[in-house]
Amino acid sequence: MTYDRNHALIESAIPGLPPPRRGKVRDIYDVGDALLLVATDRISAFDCVMPNGIPDKGRVLTGISRFWFSFFDWMPNHLLTMDPDRYPEPARACAADLEGRSMLVRKARCIPVECIARGYLVGSGWKEYQRSGMVCGIPLRPGYVQAEQLDEPIFTPSFKAEQGLHDENITYEQVIAMTNAATAAALRASTLRLYGEARDCAATRGILIADTKFEFGFDDQGTIRLIDEVLTPDSSRFWPAESYRTGSNPPSLDKQFVRDYLESIGFQHQPPAPELPDEVVARTREKYLAALEQLTGSAT
Ligand SMILES: Nc1ncnc2c1ncn2[C@@H]1O[C@H](COP(=O)(O)OP(=O)(O)O)[C@@H](O)[C@H]1O
Ligand SMILES: [Mg+2]
Repeated sequence: MTYDRNHALIESAIPGLPPPRRGKVRDIYDVGDALLLVATDRISAFDCVMPNGIPDKGRVLTGISRFWFSFFDWMPNHLLTMDPDRYPEPARACAADLEGRSMLVRKARCIPVECIARGYLVGSGWKEYQRSGMVCGIPLRPGYVQAEQLDEPIFTPSFKAEQGLHDENITYEQVIAMTNAATAAALRASTLRLYGEARDCAATRGILIADTKFEFGFDDQGTIRLIDEVLTPDSSRFWPAESYRTGSNPPSLDKQFVRDYLESIGFQHQPPAPELPDEVVARTREKYLAALEQLTGSAT
């Protein structure tokens, strides 16, 4: 295991298992018929991974995903266990490092569509609306201002790009072409229901979920399951309800200090990303821990 000077986990390694595939944030170990997902403390901004991490961030993300997996009792998901005693033998030996930041999950055949639900018009959706009056081919009524709540949440899929490339918005018709009509309809319906229920739950806890991204996959039986991480600050835009205003891009609950810092030094959104100062790390860590507590009522 590689930790940085603030004891943030930068890279995991499990003796006795082949090296993992490394995503931006998670390390993915193939353990036969299951995967072991290890959420490190890496942080990415503008699609670049920073050289140092945010201590406990992996635990926060894992705790939040666990909360939502059990919240949505109607939606099949990929979680098998978070108990390291039930992990395959080599991983059990690393229980102390893995506890709380890892999940043993069912292997799924991933559907290469990022299933995004938007309840507010911001970010790339806002840019597209200004250009064309549409988002992902969905015409919206005129008159919205930046960050305004949409009359109805919309499903705005994107194509999951290879690492290092930006995802690309696609239309619903393209989702049908990439899957089939029944799968596309199921993805859209599940995405909007998951988002709606989560938005209502978070709103009672002072958090607005502006938008979020789900991933789905097929299991051996052909059942569609919710996979990956769910409604975390990394996969969603969380806004503190108290400071929400339309007309500008509201600061996010978690990564704002990182983004502000990177802007302040003129970071060009191209690797290599610069080291984050300890002050930025500490303040960002507080934000992640607060998000977990505010949402789930429990600390790491
Ligand atoms: N149950 C699953 N079966 C197969 N792949 C999965 C499953 N759950 C998550 N994944 C994949 O594991 C990776 C998680 O690592 P992450 O750091 O989020 O990567 P990324 O940089 O692609 O976002 C993602 O590519 C995701 O699609
Ligand atoms: Mg991811």
